[in-house]
Amino acid sequence: MIANLGTIMDQRGTVTIRHGLRQDVARVYDVYADAIEMIRESGVPIRRRPRHDIDRLCELSLGADFLRIAEGEGGGGVVGFSVSTRREGWLHLEEIGVLRAWQRRGIGSALLRVLIKDCLDIDCVGITLTTDRLLPFNAPLYRQFGFREPGREAPRHLRDLLRHERALGLDPHRRVGMLLRKSEVAPEALSAWSPVVAAPNGERRTKSG
Ligand SMILES: CC(C)(COP(=O)(O)OP(=O)(O)OC[C@H]1O[C@@H](n2cnc3c(N)ncnc32)[C@H](O)[C@@H]1OP(=O)(O)O)[C@@H](O)C(=O)NCCC(=O)NCCS
Repeated sequence: MIANLGTIMDQRGTVTIRHGLRQDVARVYDVYADAIEMIRESGVPIRRRPRHDIDRLCELSLGADFLRIAEGEGGGGVVGFSVSTRREGWLHLEEIGVLRAWQRRGIGSALLRVLIKDCLDIDCVGITLTTDRLLPFNAPLYRQFGFREPGREAPRHLRDLLRHERALGLDPHRRVGMLLRKSEVAPEALSAWSPVVAAPNGERRTKSG
């Protein structure tokens, strides 16, 4: 039995957040490839990683039990994921994505809450990630969960990743590293593992228990 890490319910049905399994790995790339189109459509240049790259990260993430899957009911299959790995004492969010047809239902937020819960459950400093500074579903979304730019205290792996992105041609003015220290996790984010419930009118609320 796979533990249910959270549930999203709205008029369109139910989505469950759960631990990733080996059979999910092949599907994650398809969700990633669809989700990343959203960035391209926004006019921001982005590098679509090759399948073998995402598969490798998924395997690493799965091995440490950091692969998280959002599964739609009624044959929806994998509709979202988050892939994280350990980097220099931090839990690093490598990729997160939700199929375009399933976005704006709270799935990305639910995956982020589960990520924060994962971070609190393991021995690590906190969470790191790199993202776009301006897209509303990137840095501004992470900020809602307490992530911030590190300034001078940027961990080395974050600086290395930004340097690597620059070398790949991504705009250094748009790319930004962010972190959330365990000690800075806000109580609101701690409702992470409570099922997230959306009311029929689309208004979301969290339910404890
Ligand atoms: C980031 C992502 C996973 C969020 O998934 P999601 O399921 O749509 O997220 P949520 O429904 O929880 O949205 C949370 C908030 O993000 C912001 N947001 C999300 N999508 C948005 C959009 N298209 N336009 C404006 N704001 C948006 C809103 O503030 C939203 O809250 P609201 O719906 O109450 O207004 C999804 O947008 C995605 O897959 N994007 C492409 C891949 C990507 O950018 N990954 C992150 C790379 S660092």
